[in-house]
Amino acid sequence: METKIFQSDQINQAAALLRQGELVAFPTETVYGLGANALLPESVKQVFAVKGRPSDNPLIVHVADFSMTKEFVDSYHPLTEKIIKNFWPGPLTLIFTIKEDSLSPVVTGGLSTAAFRMPDNKKTLSLIEKTGAPLVGPSANTSGKPSPTTAVHVYHDLNGKIAGILDDGATQIGVESTVLDLSSEVPTILRPGAVTQEVLEEVLGIEVPLDKHLVKESETPKAPGMKYKHYSPDTPVLMIHSDDWEDALDWAEKNNKKIGLLATPSIANRYSSADRFVFEEDTIKAATRGLFSGLRALDEAKKVDIIFAEVFPEDHLGLAYMNRLKKAAAQNYFSKK
Ligand code: TXA
Ligand code: MG
Repeated sequence: METKIFQSDQINQAAALLRQGELVAFPTETVYGLGANALLPESVKQVFAVKGRPSDNPLIVHVADFSMTKEFVDSYHPLTEKIIKNFWPGPLTLIFTIKEDSLSPVVTGGLSTAAFRMPDNKKTLSLIEKTGAPLVGPSANTSGKPSPTTAVHVYHDLNGKIAGILDDGATQIGVESTVLDLSSEVPTILRPGAVTQEVLEEVLGIEVPLDKHLVKESETPKAPGMKYKHYSPDTPVLMIHSDDWEDALDWAEKNNKKIGLLATPSIANRYSSADRFVFEEDTIKAATRGLFSGLRALDEAKKVDIIFAEVFPEDHLGLAYMNRLKKAAAQNYFSKK
């Protein structure tokens, strides 16, 4: 199959394919999604097949507005209105209890709840409207690769396997949405993202806990997808604390290891000799935007033995950045000993 790249004047064509049951990748503010019509179970099955994704991992249902969820949900958490008003469209996925049989078990993994999100991307909102149905959309990468932040990444992984890609350049945020469970009394963060715990607590005026597994690694996560090892690059990744760069690079030199740096300009520019992917600015926002892209670039170039990646404090957006980086690094930090 030839994978077509659609521009903004071709959304009608992309929507027609989705109505016919084909797969079309779509842009969002977080990462690109692998889209299928959520109401066509056979198409949704294809999503798992194309990605190589375990079928017990439920999908997010992407909607064009809040009213689209009403077909599937009949009782909402009391804070829902406030949350929607403040954060939709945006990088916040909400878990609701759904009406029985309102969504195929292929979408929900057989759970009595489902995940919903209204992405902040005009082209994709228009795509959903023109399709006339919500779209499932896991990240549009092959399982085991970092989530795609450009149409080129999607093409690299899925060319020939899907009907098309709606192109909207590079995504703004760079990591997947925050997942907030609203199916029980206490809203709980199952996956950290750009809508941070601190912001949620401030807006809602209550404590919003993190799921147990985000606090203690031995606990089982409530979001089934969080148990899978996300992305394991062929090139090993080591996380480097800010005081350890000098020692880490000395160690690499002594051991004849070729290093690829993944860091902000203030750190990367100190070490001109190594290969590198430099984040656009010295901010956690720029680092988060560049994380997956940088891991992909350094891994695919196959020129370095180890990737040294910058560590950030695990609060605010840093919690989301570190959650993804720790998985890529299999939890390994450089240590002097
Ligand atoms: O930013 C994003 O969220 C991207 C873009 C494309 O929208 N999508 C994305 O989808 O990351 P996916 O399928 O990779 O992540 C969905 C996460 C998984 O961790 C899954 O286990 C969890 O949401 N999830 C889905 N339904 C759930 C449910 N009913 N209860 C708990 N967790 C659920
Ligand atoms: Mg994913």
